[in-house]
Amino acid sequence: MRWIREELESRAVTKWAGRRVTCYDVTDSTNIQAKADAENGAEHGSLVIADMQTAGRGRSGKSWSSPPGANVYFTLILKPRLAPEKAFMLTPVMALAVAEGISRSCGIEPRIKWPNDIVMDGKKVCGILAEMSAEKGSVRYVVIGVGINVGQQDFPAEIADVATCLRKECGRDVSRQELVLEIMRAFEEYYEIFAESEDLSGLTERYNGLLVNIGRRVRVLDPAGEYEGKAKGVDERGRLLVETEDGSIRQVYAGEVSVRGIYGYV
Ligand code: BTN
Repeated sequence: MRWIREELESRAVTKWAGRRVTCYDVTDSTNIQAKADAENGAEHGSLVIADMQTAGRGRSGKSWSSPPGANVYFTLILKPRLAPEKAFMLTPVMALAVAEGISRSCGIEPRIKWPNDIVMDGKKVCGILAEMSAEKGSVRYVVIGVGINVGQQDFPAEIADVATCLRKECGRDVSRQELVLEIMRAFEEYYEIFAESEDLSGLTERYNGLLVNIGRRVRVLDPAGEYEGKAKGVDERGRLLVETEDGSIRQVYAGEVSVRGIYGYV
């Protein structure tokens, strides 16, 4: 993996995103490593990347299948000057960057399933897990972990019917380095738009343009009570606007809430 680090660092065209790279052949989880690096003074924009994870983590306490040789597992370390309640909006910024990076390196535009799954042909190709440390009303760091199925063909039984990979969707091999470089380039661009307003107002149009749920009936899996409605898009804080039976609009915060299509995953 050392050559990947050298290639990523030498070919980066960004000012800060992914300019410093730490690579592992095997690690427990790039999110765990990134948090340790952030605690030990890693700079804003440092990237931790691995060929394989032994304890890859997903949302809601699930694990993330992380076999070697085929996929991309990375975590970007951010040290923004930002109030903690605004930090969750960095996840949709990354979702947009991953979608753009895939589009630039595969020539096919994926869609986003709210809040932060990247889907192709109705199946999940990427998941994102952000974690934050904050104190005294400000963010110390945010780590954004991204797992992309690039060449993995076989998936664990419980996700086999909802997961896919880029190789299958694009019909050819996709360079992992190229993909990461394009994502970093897009992330830096979108992050700077986000940072101007400290919300997603400059990005909602782009996000809603990629949102697979838009105009569809969804089931909101809210631990406080599930309900159904029609997804109208996200607002400037990344909340999904869902129109319920009585015509009222509910704002759905990501957190532990996710949505399902009425007939399946999307
Ligand atoms: C999800 O459940 O959709 C989020 C999956 C996030 C997986 C990535 S792989 C790189 C980083 N390290 C981890 O342990 N998790 C994230």
